[in-house]
Amino acid sequence: MSAPTFDPTHLEPRSATDEQRAEAPLARTPDGTWVVLGHEEAVAVAGDHESFSSAVSRFLQVPNGLDGAEHAAFRQVLDPFFGPEPMAQLEPVVRRVAAELVEELLADVGAAGTEIDAVAALGAVFAVRAQTAWLGWPAQLERELLQWMVDNHEASRSGELARTAEVAERFDAIIRSVVAPRRALGDHAPADVTTALMRVRVPLPGLPGDPGRELRDEEIVSVLRNWTGGDLGSIALCIGVLLTGIARAPQLAERLRVGTDEEAAAIIDELLRIDDPFVANRRVATCPVTVAGHEIGAGERVQIHWTSANRDERVFPDPEAFDPAAHAEHNLVYGTGRHVCPGRPLATLELRVALQELLAVADVAPAPTPGEREIAPVGGWAHAPVVLTPRG
Ligand code: HEM
Repeated sequence: MSAPTFDPTHLEPRSATDEQRAEAPLARTPDGTWVVLGHEEAVAVAGDHESFSSAVSRFLQVPNGLDGAEHAAFRQVLDPFFGPEPMAQLEPVVRRVAAELVEELLADVGAAGTEIDAVAALGAVFAVRAQTAWLGWPAQLERELLQWMVDNHEASRSGELARTAEVAERFDAIIRSVVAPRRALGDHAPADVTTALMRVRVPLPGLPGDPGRELRDEEIVSVLRNWTGGDLGSIALCIGVLLTGIARAPQLAERLRVGTDEEAAAIIDELLRIDDPFVANRRVATCPVTVAGHEIGAGERVQIHWTSANRDERVFPDPEAFDPAAHAEHNLVYGTGRHVCPGRPLATLELRVALQELLAVADVAPAPTPGEREIAPVGGWAHAPVVLTPRG
């Protein structure tokens, strides 16, 4: 029996896969890409690093496009950037960024409140300011990065290679503009995350005890592209999902105001599970391998659909039910396996602090304007209107 045909291109990922998953946990696009919709199957594919390679792009992608020992070597030196200590040091910085933005949004707002688009007005601006503060980039890059986010989004929706190549090149130029001055300053470069990344030495696989080698320029650009390019949009979309969820369930706002940071993180993870805007990642089969009773041939392309897996009724009997404690163990918002998101502590920190700072001074309610859902390759809300009202 062949897998059902399903083409997620340009569809709203959540509703489209809810329907498709009911038929089977694995589908195939007309051009032959396998789409893994089921939870068990997503975990199996993401966990089978021998049969599924992450080297899916013709461009260098550090670390996400690497496999095996080379991937492990990069993760070993890059993961500490998201360790508990750097995150604790960053928290007051991100908190200040969030508080200032909230103050700007609420300036001159009366008791009737103001309607904002949570994605554009709060999410995108906060993402750019928080990431540039983290990396030590100049605040003047804000406008350029915000415009880049809009153009990147349009280009990936268009599916036109020339447009995606142009925005990718523009982003690399931004990154080179922050790397070049640090190179020129040598030992006098500012002590920030970007400089620290440029000084990383990656161990050489198979040579334990060896001091390793410095990252090449194209590797530094690739890591920074990964840390910002993909992430800015994800943080903005996550904010849209979170504020829409909180507007609809005001008791969550209260739990976020009075609860611990751990409770806040659990609420965030569960809202994102229900409506995961980080939709999918790609793999390529290295050998014939069976998934959900279908043989995937060597060289065939596979898409792990996290948004769908996070709503699989076989694991979450009512995918809409909000139950952080029951669902945390199976939550796949940040992936699983060796490529599991290293940036999760940073993402959680940014999202938690943004919500805490906003909810300390404002109530969030549904807006009269209807929201607009996103379409693949991203999910969540394209526009998430909510009404902010100053508290007290
Ligand atoms: C905003 C919410 C975020 C979500 C939902 C998210 C989700 C994910 C997922 C599902 C993966 C797995 C990819 C795979 O299996 O191929 C991943 C990988 C990755 N994420 Fe995130 N991420 C987020 C934020 C971030 C942040 C803030 C950073 C860094 C600044 C980051 C950096 C990365 C990197 C470098 C990888 C590749 C890891 C590897 O291939 O070993 N992510 N992310």
